[in-house]
Order: sequence, then structure tokens, then C-alpha cells
Amino acid sequence: MRRVAVIGIGITKFGEHWEKGFRDLVIEAGKNALEDANVQGEEIDALFVGAMSPGLMVGQEHAAALVADYIGLNPIPATRVEGACASGGLAFRNAYMAVASGMHDIVVAGGAEKMTDLDTAQISTVLGGAGDEEWELFQGATFPAIYALMAKRHMHEYHTREEDMALVSVKNHKHASMNDYAQFQKEITVEEVLESKTVSSPLKLLDCSPITDGAAVVVLAELEKAKKYTDTLIEVIGSGQASGQIALHDRQSITQIDATRVAAEKALKQAKVTHKDIDLVEVHDCFTIAEILALEDLGFFKKGEAVKAIRENQTYYDGSLPVNTSGGLKGCGHPVGATGIKQIVEVAIQLRNQAGKRQVKNAEIGMTHNVGGSGATAVVHILKRIK
Ligand code: COA
Repeated sequence: MRRVAVIGIGITKFGEHWEKGFRDLVIEAGKNALEDANVQGEEIDALFVGAMSPGLMVGQEHAAALVADYIGLNPIPATRVEGACASGGLAFRNAYMAVASGMHDIVVAGGAEKMTDLDTAQISTVLGGAGDEEWELFQGATFPAIYALMAKRHMHEYHTREEDMALVSVKNHKHASMNDYAQFQKEITVEEVLESKTVSSPLKLLDCSPITDGAAVVVLAELEKAKKYTDTLIEVIGSGQASGQIALHDRQSITQIDATRVAAEKALKQAKVTHKDIDLVEVHDCFTIAEILALEDLGFFKKGEAVKAIRENQTYYDGSLPVNTSGGLKGCGHPVGATGIKQIVEVAIQLRNQAGKRQVKNAEIGMTHNVGGSGATAVVHILKRIK
């Protein structure tokens, strides 16, 4: 396999974009990434686009062809990748594999979603299709309900408290307040989280990621070629993907996501690093409980022990294990197809030492963790600044 580096990043502001459509968002992020990489359209060999459901959200299918056309990349091969909320992470992995394999030298990976054109009931139904439609959504179990079950069980098994989940939200809103592209720019308190309206007990409004519009794009290149374009090489040193049961009731345990565990093991093995080497991690906190599960399933903590680190503020940008410095899905927003690429963008910003107030000191190695649905897909990447 050849070595691969990220040479360009581009992102739109995340939030509610009344004035911009799906294609406007993706063009904006795409242009930013190409400019940042300093590559011309004709130098790019292929494009992968992560989008969960643009057909149901805005009526636009055939998203990759649209993006290639509007960013000016025709006639390169353009492929849409779908893995629910992990669509962006999977698009990145496909782009990585295309370069690592020697098939292509320079590849673009993007992710986008325009979610706010639907009302909350409609978007919940679309998102709910990423679970087991017959056994879960059809019975009324949308994602807040599914993650609420996981939260209840975690509370039962490990004495996790609602206050612990609230601390995750407070920290992610704090990080988001230092991030210009985040959806929410205001800090919140534990009391505000606990007093916010119940969505699906024990999860409250401020335990949930929001409905978001946004796009993110990155450019990858074979390492030797990458040196032509940038002095700061961010190498992809590990990539792992795994699948697990789609329905909650089929799992042996609902307090762990097996696909996360396997994807992390694969990525760490390939990267030849251990948890101690990771300077920051962007995890898939679609709900606050999901950040707790992720930190345990990725192997940073034993089951039931992540909350101790959270209570001790270790997961802040200036703590011993910075988690979700972008603000995460909770604070930065979660335009589902874009999220996995946004995580790569944030790690690249940190490794380039460009994160301003939320900069992690001496960041050299970062991890991303992107989940589809309630855990049937997980994809983990490890990136390292090598120059
Ligand atoms: N966090 C913080 N504030 C939020 C928010 C969130 N997740 N969601 C909405 N808000 C704010 C809005 O900005 C709005 O504020 P305003 O009154 O100052 O303008 C207010 O709360 C009401 O917003 P509204 O859109 O009416 O909320 P809602 O009740 O319709 O939707 C949720 C709230 C939590 C149900 C919705 O955001 C949701 O479904 N989130 C989960 C998305 C999801 O499942 N993603 C996939 C994960 S696998």
C-alpha cells in the first residue's frame, strides 16, 4: 500500500442555511478545499461523496455526479457513498483506499447534507430509516428513543448519572463556542441541560445533536506527490471499518458498540500506535451517551470508567485526552453525511496548529470515529503530522 496524506480541507459554516441549497453548500466547501490544496480540477483523479439521504431531504439523488459537475470536475469518476451518519467517514475511507492502492494519485472526499428543509417529525423519520425499519422505526423508535435505551442501560449497569451526560454537552458547547464553523456559539451549564425539555427520557434537548445543514471536503494525495502541494503533511496512518447488528435487540449488550471496537483495533494496528499516542479524538456524539460509549468502545477507558475522566474535565481541549474540540456533533452540528469529513477537517486543523483558542498543545496524532445509525457501521481513522 502507498502512503497517503491530506493536502487540502474546506468546510461551510454548520447550521440552518435558508439561503443556500445542497449544491451551494457542497460547492462552497469544495472550492475551499481545492484552493487550500492548491490543486487544479484537472489534477484530480476521482471523487467520493458521502450523503445519507439527499433524495428524501431535498429531492436530489445522483449527488456525486451533481457535485462533480458543479465543482467543475467532469469527467472524473464520481461515486456517492452511503452509510447513514457514517457516510462521510466511508467516503474518506474509499478515497484513502483508492490512493493507497495505487489506482489514483489525487482524490477528493466530500460529505454534505441539507436537513432543515424538513420539519422535525419528517427528518426523524428519514433518520430513523438508518435503524432497523421493521423492528424499530415502524414501531415508533426514532434515534433519540434508541439512544435513550442505551443510556438507561448504561446508567443501570455503571451508575452513570444524567449529570455525567450533561457534562459532555457542556464541554462540547464550550468547544463549539471557540469554533467559527460550529452551529452553536454559546456556552451552557449543567443546570440548563438538566432543565431542558425531555426528548426521550433520560435524554433531553441539550443531550441531542441538532438538525443541521453543512458540507465538508478534503483532498488526499499519494505522499510523495503531496510534497509538491504542501509543507505540512498530514498522513493517514490508520483506517478501520466494521459492521455490527443493525437492531438493538439483536445485540448481546446495548451498552457497547462492537463495530466501534473492531474498527478502532484495526486502525490502531495499522497505525502501529497505542491509545497513549493519540493527542485528540473526534468521536460520534450524536447523543451525549454516545460520547461516553465511544470513549469506552474505542478503548480509551474500560466499560463504566469514561465518566470519571469526564467528571475530572480530562476531555476538554486542554485536558489529558481532548475530545471533540470542534464541538462534536452536539455543539458543532450534525449534517449527517458531512460529519465524518468534518471530523477529518477538525483533526487536520489541530495538527496544522490552526485551531486558535481551542488548539490542543503539541498535537501530532489525532483520531476520528464516525458511526452509522445506532452502531451498525463504524469507521475510525488515525492521522499524523509528519512534517
Ligand atoms: N441542541 C441545542 N439546541 C437545540 C437543539 C439541540 N439539539 N435542537 C433544537 N435546538 C434549539 C433550536 O435552535 C430552537 O432554539 P430557538 O427557540 O432559540 O430558535 C429550539 O431549540 C427549538 O428548536 P426545534 O427545532 O423546535 O426543536 P425540536 O424539538 O423540533 O427538535 C430535537 C429537537 C432534539 C428533537 C432534534 O434536534 C433532533 O431530532 N435531534 C436528533 C437528530 C438525530 O437523531 N440525528 C441522528 C443521530 S443518529
